Amino acid sequence: MCLEFAVARYPTPVRLRDGKICTVRLLESEDADRFYEFLKAVPEEERLFIKPRLTLRLIRRWCRQSKPDENLTLVMVHNDRIIGEATLHQRTGGWKRHIGKVTVLTHPHYRGIDVAKLLVKELLAIAPHCGLERLEAEFNGERQVAIRALFQLGFEELARIPGYLRDMRFRPHDYVLLGIHLVTDEEYAVAVG
Ligand SMILES: CC(C)(COP(=O)(O)OP(=O)(O)OC[C@H]1O[C@@H](n2cnc3c(N)ncnc32)[C@H](O)[C@@H]1OP(=O)(O)O)[C@@H](O)C(=O)NCCC(=O)NCCS
Repeated sequence: MCLEFAVARYPTPVRLRDGKICTVRLLESEDADRFYEFLKAVPEEERLFIKPRLTLRLIRRWCRQSKPDENLTLVMVHNDRIIGEATLHQRTGGWKRHIGKVTVLTHPHYRGIDVAKLLVKELLAIAPHCGLERLEAEFNGERQVAIRALFQLGFEELARIPGYLRDMRFRPHDYVLLGIHLVTDEEYAVAVG
């Protein structure tokens, strides 16, 4: 149902704060080179949530979106260039199966013009169709821009643990967990009567 909803919804045009018209769509197999270029343009310390080392092989696998019920990636495209991505991560079983996790990344040349907020808004629209009740996002406490952007979309701080994380040089950083309760179709129907 999740993928069907997304396939029916995309591609869709969006207007950025500076007037640029872009397209939001699902990441596709043919995107491998484009997506690789995009990820390489983002400083390594900013994409640390992508755990394995970046290789074209890994990117090709990612672009195939072979497990959309576990990881569903949306991209924003401007002039045939990928300028942002947002991924909805789902666990198919276990205690957190009703909680999706969001990650988002914007190309350094396209920041501050709503790319991340528009992409996360799209994930907020898709998530209830994936059987999810909540979304969460994890950060190190220094990611103020990302934390503020998600606050603006309705996320709230669920937990902050000082010094819980360690960077490459083993320096401590705060762990921050944000979350949002999703309005399901049933709740929406009750709310509007
Ligand atoms: C966090 C990130 C995704 C934000 O992307 P973005 O497309 O620039 O964000 P948006 O333009 O949608 O909105 C973010 C808000 O922060 C502001 N902002 C963006 N870059 C900023 C900067 N360098 N300094 C201050 N404010 C900034 C925007 O103006 C906007 O606020 P506003 O609506 O009050 O003006 C991007 O900086 C990034 O990719 N960072 C590295 C990865 C990361 O931290 N991801 C989140 C963890 S999953």
